[in-house]
Amino acid sequence: MYKLIRPLLFAMQPEKIHDLVVNGLKILRDVPLARACVRMLFNYKNSKLEREVFGVTFKNPVGLSAGFDKNGDIYNDMSDFGFGFIEVGTLTPKPQDGNPQPRCFRLLKDEAIINRMGINNKGVKYAVSYIKRHHPNCVIGASITKGKDTPVEQAAKDYEICFEYLYDIVDYIALNVSCPNVKDLYKLQDVTNLSEIIDKLLELRRMYDDYRPILLKISPDIPYTQLDEIIDTILVSGLDGVIATNTTISRDGLKTDNKTLDAIGNGGLSGAPLFKKTLDFVSYIARKTGGSLPIIASGGIMSPQQAKQMLDAGASLVQVYSGFIYNGPGFVKKINKYLVKNIK
Ligand SMILES: Cc1cc2nc3c(=O)[nH]c(=O)nc-3n(C[C@H](O)[C@H](O)[C@H](O)COP(=O)(O)O)c2cc1C
Repeated sequence: MYKLIRPLLFAMQPEKIHDLVVNGLKILRDVPLARACVRMLFNYKNSKLEREVFGVTFKNPVGLSAGFDKNGDIYNDMSDFGFGFIEVGTLTPKPQDGNPQPRCFRLLKDEAIINRMGINNKGVKYAVSYIKRHHPNCVIGASITKGKDTPVEQAAKDYEICFEYLYDIVDYIALNVSCPNVKDLYKLQDVTNLSEIIDKLLELRRMYDDYRPILLKISPDIPYTQLDEIIDTILVSGLDGVIATNTTISRDGLKTDNKTLDAIGNGGLSGAPLFKKTLDFVSYIARKTGGSLPIIASGGIMSPQQAKQMLDAGASLVQVYSGFIYNGPGFVKKINKYLVKNIK
């Protein structure tokens, strides 16, 4: 069914259709029974899917990656599509517009997306105010990062601000240090910069009665030597897990021609071409940590079989973004049904 209407949806610019969907979901809230119908169609429950990871109970292991619910105001609507958890954000201390449009492009031949949104969001205070007024009926994580104009040396302060606003109202916090569309953000993956941020947040966490897991989202573009250093930093500091991975700046092996790619320009690539790199990272981290570090696999999961491959490689949870765009609203249910049939 979705495959039939997809060409119509894909005739529009990706960001336009995303805005339409977000606004459409908000309108559906006022249509009697609409959300119940969505839940009836797309939700799938089975106790075999439930799991506890970093102290949080998930009804199923399939989450929505950061970047879809950018402002943290459609997590309940999106959970109707069967997601086990929603990662809202990425949020910054102040609202920011992101890069000029157009900034999001589909590569149909590759089942991929290139985006250079630049962390456009309404700011952490907007999200906090919304979440406080609308109790989440699913697990929600919040992805946070520094503001675009904040120099790398002062980045820790921005993470602290977002962290303190969100601590009491979300289930976990993800540190985005890997978005390729924010100038110099990748530098925060250098262990000196990273340790400063992590140490500050862990110190802050000790002041709270409740425990919130903190995860680090890494880039697929870092070399393995740097990945080793990051894993060591995570293990020594006591961070709770890793999200592997964000989008890539690589254009290797794409079917889309160079002329089209040149016309699109810079941006992070997601979707099918990212799968192998993500799977390699997930397997490597799981092996290196002996399975002791919870991993959320994010990148290129375009089929239920690929979701299972990530879990088999050592991920505790998976996240999808491009797969949801290309496969449609039934994708999460399809993955979960497949997992129930195939999980031993
Ligand atoms: C349009 C778009 C916007 C995104 N925005 C964010 C973001 O704000 N923060 C973040 O951590 N990741 C962001 N991502 C990356 C996704 O969360 C995910 O890690 C990546 O797309 C790989 O997964 P996929 O292949 O399933 O799409 C974005 C991805 C896309 C396509």
